[in-house]
Amino acid sequence: MGWNSWNHFQCDINEAVVRSTADALVAIGLAKAGYTYVNLDDCWADSERTKEGYMVANPKTFPSGIKALADYVHSKGLKLGIYSSAGTRTCSNRMPGSLGYEERDAKMFASWGVDYLKYDNCYRDGTPETVRFGRMSRALVNSGRPIFYSLCEWGFMEVPKWGGMYGNSWRTTGDINDTWSGMLDNIDLNDAYARYAKPGGWNDPDMLEVGNGGMAYNEYVVHFSLWAIAKAPLVIGCDVTRVSNETLGILSNAEVIAISQDRLGVQGQKVSKYGNDLEVWAGQLSGHRKAVLLLNRGATRSASITAAWPDVGIRRGVAVEARDVWKHETLPGWFTGSLTAVVGPHSCKLFVLTPVPS
Ligand code: DGJ
Repeated sequence: MGWNSWNHFQCDINEAVVRSTADALVAIGLAKAGYTYVNLDDCWADSERTKEGYMVANPKTFPSGIKALADYVHSKGLKLGIYSSAGTRTCSNRMPGSLGYEERDAKMFASWGVDYLKYDNCYRDGTPETVRFGRMSRALVNSGRPIFYSLCEWGFMEVPKWGGMYGNSWRTTGDINDTWSGMLDNIDLNDAYARYAKPGGWNDPDMLEVGNGGMAYNEYVVHFSLWAIAKAPLVIGCDVTRVSNETLGILSNAEVIAISQDRLGVQGQKVSKYGNDLEVWAGQLSGHRKAVLLLNRGATRSASITAAWPDVGIRRGVAVEARDVWKHETLPGWFTGSLTAVVGPHSCKLFVLTPVPS
C-alpha cells in the first residue's frame, strides 16, 4: 500500500510535491490506514548520466537529491520508492534507463535509502524480459538493502508465471485509464492469473485512479473493492494534498483494507456470471471467512444478484453471518445456501461472510 506520482502528476513532479504528499498521508490518516510507500515514477532524474555514468536527480526539480528526500520520507515513518526502466531510456524519454547499469544503479538506490523500485519496460533491446528484469533482481539482492521490486512489463510473456522468481509484484496489464471500462478491462485481465499470486509476489492490475475525477463515486467504490478482493497493490494515484471527503472515505475504509491485507493473501476471483452484466467475485479470507463481491456492470438498471455457496466455495448447509463492509452493517439473520442483494448500476456490494458456529 502506498502512493505513486504517475496517475495524477505524470512528469510534473518535484521534491515539494513528494514532501507534501508524505505530510498529507500522515496528516489525513492514510499512513495509519496502511499506505506506507511514497513512490516516484518517471521523470525524477536528470536527462543524462554523469560523465562517470551515474544517474542523478534532476537538479531543477529535485535540488536536494534523493537521499535527502528518502531521509525526509523516513522521518515521517514512511518508505521511499524510485523508478527506472529495463531499457536505455524510460518511457518519457526524459531520463536514462538502467539497462547495462543494473548493479551500479541498484547500489546507488540502496545508498540513498530507497525501499522500492518500479522497473518499467521502455527503450528495451532484443534481450528477453526474463533476462533484463532478472538482472535487476540480482542487482537489488546484491545491493545490501531490502528493496521491494515491482516489475512493470505490462503482462508480456505471461509474467505471472515467472515474476515471483524475481520480484514482489508484476503488472499484468497496460496502463489503467480513469474510466469505468478501462478499469474493468484491467481487473479482468488480471483475474486470469489469480492462481499465481501469493504473499511475497502479487499480480498488479496497475495503480488506483480513485480521486482523479474520471469515474463517479459508485464506480470508484467498485474500483477499490475489486482491487481489494483481488489482493492487488493499493497504490493511490491521486493528489492526496487536495483529497475530497468522498475519496478519503473510499481509500481509508478499514474493513475493505482488511480484506486486501488479509494474511492468507489469496487472490479473490470472478466465480459466476449472469448475462453480460452481473458477476459474483469471491475469495478466501483467514478464519474460514470469505470475501464476496456482487457486481453490476450494467449502466441502467438495478439488479438482484445471488452468490450461491458452491460458487463461493462454502460447503452446503453452512450458515454465515454477512457483513456489508461499505455500509459497516451486519445483515440481520443468518444465510444458508446463498446470499442475494440488489445492486445498482455500475455499483457493487462487498461482504465478509463468517461461518456461524453450529
Ligand atoms: C509506463 C508505465 O506502465 C506507467 O505506469 C508509467 O510508469 C509510465 N510508463 C511512465 O512513463
